[in-house]
Formats: sequence, structure tokens, C-alpha cells
Amino acid sequence: MAGDGYHEPVGELADETRDTHRALVSLQEEIEAIDWYQQRIDASHDEALKRILAHNRDEEKEHAAMMLEWLRRRDARWDAVLRTYLFSEGDITALEDDPGPDEAGGGSAPGALTVGSLIEQSRGGQ
Ligand SMILES: [Fe+2]
Ligand SMILES: [Fe+2]
Repeated sequence: MAGDGYHEPVGELADETRDTHRALVSLQEEIEAIDWYQQRIDASHDEALKRILAHNRDEEKEHAAMMLEWLRRRDARWDAVLRTYLFSEGDITALEDDPGPDEAGGGSAPGALTVGSLIEQSRGGQ
């Protein structure tokens, strides 16, 4: 139901915050659906039903990705962390301190926000 999940009076929230809340709740629902479909697949003993459930589970992944992209386009921090972690290889936890090709090699995005640069800024660096 609309309004669920707010932690402050709705009238005090900016329109952008309310839309972001809608998107985050929708993303949560899509991710929960993926989990629930997978559990139903495991529990079902009917192969045709399993195939339908798997189809539905995978469509929820598409829905979740679309919502995540909506969030990325509207939030610089989402953009920065997704650019750092998505489609990377190797140790995920090591990426936090890796300046990446743009900063290390003078690439096309000087001054672009990365997790590393944001942490450096929060520690008082530039
Ligand atoms: Fe479908
Ligand atoms: Fe969905």
C-alpha cells in the first residue's frame, strides 16, 4: 500500500525522495520475487511448472535491473559505486581502493566520482 515504509511524515518529504522511495521499494519487491520463485522451483516436482517459474524468476531480474538503472541515472553515488563494482573481475573487496583506469591513466573522466575518491574526500583529501 502506498505510504508503507516511510520513516518520516510524508508531507515533509521532497517529491524526489518519494519517487526514490517508490523505486527502492519496487526494487526490493523484484528481488524478493526472484528469491521466492527460486524457492518454488526447488520445491516443485513438476518440470513444466519449474520452467514457467524459472521464466518468471528471470523476468524479475530484468525488472530489478531496470529499476537499478533508473536509480543510477538520478544519483551520482549510485552511478559511482555501480561503475566501480559492476562488470568487474577479481576480488570485489579490493576494488574499493583501486583508482581504476580513468583516474590511473588520465582517461576520459577526470575528477569522476569513484568509491575510492569519495572515501579520500571524506578523509579530508581531494
Ligand atoms: Fe514472461
Ligand atoms: Fe517484476
